[in-house]
Amino acid sequence: MIGPGKAIGVLGGGQLGRMFAQAAQSMGYRVHVYEQSGPSPAGAVADRETVAPFDDAAALEAFARTVDVVTYEFENIPAEPLEAVARIVPVRPSPAVLSICQNRWREKAWLKANGFPHVAYEEALDGDIAPAVERLGLPCVVKTADFGYDGKGQMRISGRDDLARAAAIFRARRCVVERWVDFEKEISVICARTGEGETRAFPAAENLHESHILDVSIVPARVPREVEQAAAALAAAIAGRLGVVGLVTVEMFLCRGGGLVVNELAPRPHNSGHWTLDACETSQFEQQVRAVCGLPLGPCGLRSPAVMVNILGDAWAWAGGAVAGEPDWSRVLREPAARLHLYGKPEPRPGRKMGHFTVQGGDLDWSLGLALELKSRMRAGAGPTSG
Ligand SMILES: Nc1ncnc2c1ncn2[C@@H]1O[C@H](COP(=O)(O)OP(=O)(O)OP(=O)(O)O)[C@@H](O)[C@H]1O
Ligand SMILES: [Mg+2]
Repeated sequence: MIGPGKAIGVLGGGQLGRMFAQAAQSMGYRVHVYEQSGPSPAGAVADRETVAPFDDAAALEAFARTVDVVTYEFENIPAEPLEAVARIVPVRPSPAVLSICQNRWREKAWLKANGFPHVAYEEALDGDIAPAVERLGLPCVVKTADFGYDGKGQMRISGRDDLARAAAIFRARRCVVERWVDFEKEISVICARTGEGETRAFPAAENLHESHILDVSIVPARVPREVEQAAAALAAAIAGRLGVVGLVTVEMFLCRGGGLVVNELAPRPHNSGHWTLDACETSQFEQQVRAVCGLPLGPCGLRSPAVMVNILGDAWAWAGGAVAGEPDWSRVLREPAARLHLYGKPEPRPGRKMGHFTVQGGDLDWSLGLALELKSRMRAGAGPTSG
């Protein structure tokens, strides 16, 4: 057990690292963040921040020597430096788990080899996607194998015209071509697993996306009880088979006519789990601390239905590419059922995740209605406060 008072290293300095650091500190740990371009949202709250590239072996080694365990908050960390860190201090989840989850070729091959339901796909190289599209049928989606997030590096192919454009865009890239799933719902389950193999899954969240970016998470997901149970069992089975020590998030599609397929995996806390901060017995960040430090896992019960709304840079007013007005935070702050979380990022940008709020305490329909109302009322320029 790595007990309170010890130091946890976090690779990556975004909002997930920030909320992880806050949870770890409230449990008595020290936190050292390693980030490529600081100062970062996580570095701003951590006990210590190192700003250096991920291929700076000397800086990474020095970082590793100051901590008792290392975890990470994003996937795009090169394998070699991470393995060098793992020779000095435990890295949880392991570099092997990260390697599978950070590349869509490896991730999908792993799902397939282990018999987990996944979206029909083909690998493609150098923009040569026509044969894959031929076999899969239209519509499909092309995704870069590496470095994708928030729908970046993706293109939907619905007709022959898209093919030529995609061939040019994805030239010199490794890609997957996936069949487009006409899903009924998107859900995600975050599952924690200890080194001894105990797993605990948070309730499934139902996720609504806007322009491929998570917009709203609704908990409990509005799906039949059997689907909820199947999703939790699938996530626990994946956590076990991967041998994760820490968290793994399993994003899934609920297909029309039933049946779950895995969209993708993330070996870390997830945007769709932010509601756990306010509406769950244990937050996903505290659970990550517990899992990577070898502490007992916390209970995952939902205190009351919850709706989380992402706040993107789009909520600011923009004129000629510059910020022309800030969201009206008082709209959210005045509402007793809402909790506002901001990530301390100095510069808003369209599509950039700046914060979120969670509405909780009533029934689900009421929470969803209030959350959507607050979302539109807090936007800069939404009009004067009515009361
Ligand atoms: N095969 C598919 N069929 C239908 N919709 C899809 C498919 N693949 C992706 N999408 C849609 O695009 C969203 C983003 O895709 P995906 O999760 O693969 O990308 P990402 O860039 O890794 O996103 P994030 O970082 O937000 O998880 C999905 O949540 C889903 O709404
Ligand atoms: Mg995703």
